[in-house]
Amino acid sequence: MRYEVVLPAAGSGKRMGAGQNKLFLKLLEKPILIHTLEVFEQDTNCTGIWLAVRPEERPLIEEMLTQYGITKVKGLPAGGEERQHSVHSCMKEMEQVDIVLVHDAARPFITHDIIANLVQSAHDHGAAIAGVRAKDTMKKVRDGIIEETVDRESLWMIQTPQAFRFKLIYEAEDVAEKVGFLGTDEAMLVERLGHAVHIVESSYENVKMTTKEDLVFGEAILRQRG
Ligand code: CTP
Ligand code: MG
Repeated sequence: MRYEVVLPAAGSGKRMGAGQNKLFLKLLEKPILIHTLEVFEQDTNCTGIWLAVRPEERPLIEEMLTQYGITKVKGLPAGGEERQHSVHSCMKEMEQVDIVLVHDAARPFITHDIIANLVQSAHDHGAAIAGVRAKDTMKKVRDGIIEETVDRESLWMIQTPQAFRFKLIYEAEDVAEKVGFLGTDEAMLVERLGHAVHIVESSYENVKMTTKEDLVFGEAILRQRG
């Protein structure tokens, strides 16, 4: 089943502390951004990529797309102050499609199988997001004291991709913008409309490159995959 993908790539990577957009950092000689783009370039079901970028980085990114043979990028709109704004600026430029995925450009290890499951679930239910079960015991803490131990069975750690019927996420973003609501992911905007969001079990390998340690995990995953 076909889909288009929005990749927010307009962050500054503060927590990585590299003094530049972390997406330009390399994992085994190739920029993180390119690793992520290649997943979608090679997925035959992906019919278009929308990349939110910092305007001053656009020329460099365009050069990289040519260098690495990435052909599916349909637009590189300017990102915004927050990730949600960056995603929205892509959505506003897209033509209407059936299914759209939003995926962090900083998660290069997503697989075609998980993407396909998300697209199918979004087609069937309207909204579906990737997540993994919490592994550790989870407790709620206030002022350094345990308040309660939360039932782990009901806890999931949420990732991207997050997949939606285009009309649903478009409306959810539109409403959020009008009332000035800022969510931590796209699903929150859809939840606010009272629409059910389904979960698709993902992989612990689908980590976001956030801090320096993640680069070590990232290179280990690439080596193990050969
Ligand atoms: N992103 C974006 N626009 C923003 C902020 C983030 O497009 N205003 C993108 C990032 O480029 C990244 C993804 O959203 O691909 C996930 O965000 P995060 O991991 O938080 O990246 P940064 O915001 O760059 O990092 P930090 O929060 O450490 O500054
Ligand atoms: Mg951020």
